[in-house]
Amino acid sequence: MQFLKIKRKCLIPVHVAIIMDGNGRWARQKSLPRIFGHEQGIRTVKKIVKAASCLGIKILTLYAFSTENWKRPINEVESLFSLFAFFVKKEFKELSDLSVCLRILGDLSKFPNDIKAEVDYICGITSKNLGLQLNIALNYGARQELIRAFVEMLRCGIKNPTEEIVSSFLYTAGQPEPDLLIRTSGEFRVSNFLLWQIAYSEIYITDKLWPDFTEQDLKNAVQEFQKRKRRFGGL
Ligand code: IPE
Ligand code: IPE
Ligand code: MG
Repeated sequence: MQFLKIKRKCLIPVHVAIIMDGNGRWARQKSLPRIFGHEQGIRTVKKIVKAASCLGIKILTLYAFSTENWKRPINEVESLFSLFAFFVKKEFKELSDLSVCLRILGDLSKFPNDIKAEVDYICGITSKNLGLQLNIALNYGARQELIRAFVEMLRCGIKNPTEEIVSSFLYTAGQPEPDLLIRTSGEFRVSNFLLWQIAYSEIYITDKLWPDFTEQDLKNAVQEFQKRKRRFGGL
């Protein structure tokens, strides 16, 4: 992946978050059932995890299933969970040579016990890895994440929360906020993703559907990010 090398290493975003959208439309364009789009989407995940690591990105957060995605037909929801279980059990092992460290953002309590156990196991054994930090947002909603944080803060007796304290109660505790937020499939919305954390993220939207998103597309997004002037409210 030599072509992925970008000269100005210092401007590589530390944390990139991606709303992986467009699997269903990709399948429909090919007159295939939606699940084929999700399967192809998993292949893109593997490719992009490797490319992110190669580019020197430190944290990659992928939005895989939102709390609102439960509104979909049950067969699609079940297929998505099976695909996720397959990814964790089989495909993720292939990424271990990249020393990837896995963290799940979201509420796994509704997941089957065997999937939860496998996820806990992988998160545990990869937790000391020094390569890419891979966050997978699964059954994730930013509003639910904030409510959960407020409830926990109340439980801990915190009466005067600061930004740092709130951040430390989120699923992303201890991690810097995303520098770059990418959304595929041309939709201009954030769909309940990381509402707190993306306060000052640079946003990059591409028409590419997620299954068609390539390493070069990631590089294009990073290069676009490098041209942005971030002001954080200053001059
Ligand atoms: C993104 O693709 C994957 C998930 C939300 C799980 P979609 O399934 O939303 O695909 P479109 O938006 O219908 O094309
Ligand atoms: C956002 O995509 C959620 C994920 C990518 C997991 P959706 O397809 O659910 O978002 P909307 O419905 O277009 O806002
Ligand atoms: Mg969608």
